Amino acid sequence: MDITLSIIKADTGGFVGHTAVHPEMMAAARSEITKAIAEGLLIDGNVAACGDDISLIMTHQREPENAAIHSFAWNVFRETTVIAKRLGLYGAGQDLLSDAFSGNLRGMGPGYAELSFTERPSEPVICFLADKTEPGAWNLPLYKMFADPFNTAGLVIDAKMHAGFRFEVYDLYEEKRIWFDCPKDLYEMLMFIGAPARYVIHRVESPTLGEPAAATSTQRLSLIAGKYVGKDDPVMIVRAQSGLPAVGEVLEPFAFPHTVAGCMRGSHHAPLTPVSLAQAHPSRFDGPPRVVALGFQLHEGKLIGPRDLFDDVAFDGARTTAGEVMDYLRRHGPFEPHRLALEDLEYTTMHELERRLADRWESMGEPVRAQKGIAS
Ligand code: F6R
Ligand code: MG
Ligand code: MG
Repeated sequence: MDITLSIIKADTGGFVGHTAVHPEMMAAARSEITKAIAEGLLIDGNVAACGDDISLIMTHQREPENAAIHSFAWNVFRETTVIAKRLGLYGAGQDLLSDAFSGNLRGMGPGYAELSFTERPSEPVICFLADKTEPGAWNLPLYKMFADPFNTAGLVIDAKMHAGFRFEVYDLYEEKRIWFDCPKDLYEMLMFIGAPARYVIHRVESPTLGEPAAATSTQRLSLIAGKYVGKDDPVMIVRAQSGLPAVGEVLEPFAFPHTVAGCMRGSHHAPLTPVSLAQAHPSRFDGPPRVVALGFQLHEGKLIGPRDLFDDVAFDGARTTAGEVMDYLRRHGPFEPHRLALEDLEYTTMHELERRLADRWESMGEPVRAQKGIAS
């Protein structure tokens, strides 16, 4: 059976501040999903939240970026916005950047990861939802899952994985994309994906199976009202087992809470903390960033699950480390590398400061290298 799994997400208002989604909004989204299943638009659906973002996890038989599916999600988010406004929740409707829906959600605020494939006799999939970070946060775990034999034993001992995987990487600033064949292109690829603010893995495929394996909510950035949008709290779909990484290999990278951008005012690095749904409410320094992993068995398009996969003592070590790293980074206060580099800050007073302090900066003469005739 050919199936599309779509996760479409948006922040339509926070409860309290930016920490969580209000239960009334969740209930409204669930009721819309139930109606869409009854009407035949969706085969199945689930609603989950990580921090202040609602994710609609849906199966259907239309292509990715389908107008009917995207406009359904848009309408759900408009409805949750109405509730957020009625309750005076924080940032009500903040991810709905346009008044009217047109064609698909690209550039309109909500993010989405979609994967079309032929359902296998047994189809384990994992939906990852994150808050207080950006799509480049998936680069390191995807690299480990699909390219690092120290993470994924199958790359060494499963013949179906021996040929490696192909990664599609977007350059978000130049509107370009490239495919890397790993392991052959491993070192070239790392040069780019190690800079996750700009180069982001969008898709992974298995050349041996001829199958897509993973998709992230990396969209081309859209310039709206002079500001780039579409680089927000990401989601990701990863298929597992039978020639793809095992569920345990897919989850293993998150045992290392790597540092990602996005915490507090979108302007700080902090550790990506793997948590259960019950703990997916970032309340310390608007962080640390959270990730939940919802596992489903897909069966005839039905979402059997979810299992809350980080609800496991085996990730307690990662959570403890994340707490220690957070303490360490917080002690830097407004200094880098806790605070992002100037060009990556989401909030900045720099432009105003440049203007205000312009006549207090005194020239110290020609640059020393120029005086000494040293070529730059
Ligand atoms: C939102 C976020 C928060 C806000 C911060 C300030 O996802 O990351 O850290 O940026 O709470 O919010 P405002 O400027 O709305 O008071
Ligand atoms: Mg918010
Ligand atoms: Mg959020």
